[in-house]
Amino acid sequence: MAAASGSAIGLGNIWGFPIKVASNGGGAFVFTYIILTFILAYPILMAELVIGRHAKADTVKSMVSISGPKSRGLGAMTGYWGMLTASLILSFYAIVAGWMIAHAGGSLVSLVGLTDSWFITESMSRSIIFCTLFFVLTIGIVASGVASGIEKWSTRLMPILILLIISLVIYIATLPGASAGWAVYLQPDFSKVTEPSLVLDALSQAFFSLSLGVGTMMVYGSYISKSENLPKLGATVACMDIGIAVLAGMLVIPAMYVAQHNGVVIYDEAGNLIESGRLIFNVLPSLFETMGAAGNIVSLLFFVLMSIAALTSSISMLEVPVAYANDSLGLSRKKAAWYVGIAILAFSVLIVFNMDLLFDGVVNFATQFSEPLIGILFCFFVGWVWKRDTLLGELKEGCPEMQESFFWKVWPAYVRFICPTAVLALLVRSFI
Ligand code: PHE
Repeated sequence: MAAASGSAIGLGNIWGFPIKVASNGGGAFVFTYIILTFILAYPILMAELVIGRHAKADTVKSMVSISGPKSRGLGAMTGYWGMLTASLILSFYAIVAGWMIAHAGGSLVSLVGLTDSWFITESMSRSIIFCTLFFVLTIGIVASGVASGIEKWSTRLMPILILLIISLVIYIATLPGASAGWAVYLQPDFSKVTEPSLVLDALSQAFFSLSLGVGTMMVYGSYISKSENLPKLGATVACMDIGIAVLAGMLVIPAMYVAQHNGVVIYDEAGNLIESGRLIFNVLPSLFETMGAAGNIVSLLFFVLMSIAALTSSISMLEVPVAYANDSLGLSRKKAAWYVGIAILAFSVLIVFNMDLLFDGVVNFATQFSEPLIGILFCFFVGWVWKRDTLLGELKEGCPEMQESFFWKVWPAYVRFICPTAVLALLVRSFI
């Protein structure tokens, strides 16, 4: 539970979600995102968790183990594709997480009375140094197998992050300009909820935020004890994940309008969000500045907690290829983590050097294309390939009354027909 929620809650909620809200007109996006999380992402989360807990292996072995003789190749391919996607996600995630650490560093420097804008100003050197630092932390944790310790520790810190965000939400609500932000956030324009680009953003956000379609939840499923009730655990993770995203939106969207009121330029003349990836770094620091001396402490706390939340997600990404190198290729955990981690770091550096060319492309390829398609493949395997009684047997562990439950009456047919068809239809509609 600590692991799965640690993986789900991260930059996707606090950095990614508000950007998507701001670029898709506010409440309409929030509405669509919540619906899609419940009706499409949650069922797929369950598919990954149940395969993982049953197979107790890396993604390639797990997929092969639930395949029949004819579908083995496709099963293995799904596992490899997930691994590649997890690595691509880590490559951009670490860059953004590096910015979080840099801002934490910047707050620390001003707290001790120095002024150095290097930490908070965009530059290639800053991105590379902090991205590398973030990789060293991620690899170090995965290599030494202490991930579970970090996750438990971070679940204790998360309430502090939540309290901090709630206090900031209240503080911002008192500032001029905030009410315009609240209106945008809370009043969905229902004529927009079916717009193809909004739906694609909401779908990919729902998958990304729940760490789906890369095998992370499968690997983490393999660590879940047989005494846990899986549908309940999955639902708790999904609700917490949505809750934190919605809360982060209450912070960033009104803050954006306060910043705009104070002269920070956020939308260009055509009404498009400028420098979307840097939205929270433009908006939040300008807000912390309004708090006087306390601002540095709040800022330090916020960015440190964000870096920790990012770490519990990044270790879950690196874990996917490392589990494979360890389990299937027989490499030691330490070697696997360092080799794979350094290879992905090299790719991150390439992205930093070609930010305009690569960053958005990698994000979109991984989150709008790969994750949903792999999600469809997981549905295919659970719905059509895997033997129904083995599936039921696995779900019954931790929930003996499963066969009579609403979940079992609906979910198997749902992931067999409705879920894959709906995801595919939304993708096709958005891309064509
Ligand atoms: N869910 C994580 C977040 O919201 C990101 C993630 C994606 C983690 C895919 C693992 C796998 O930040």
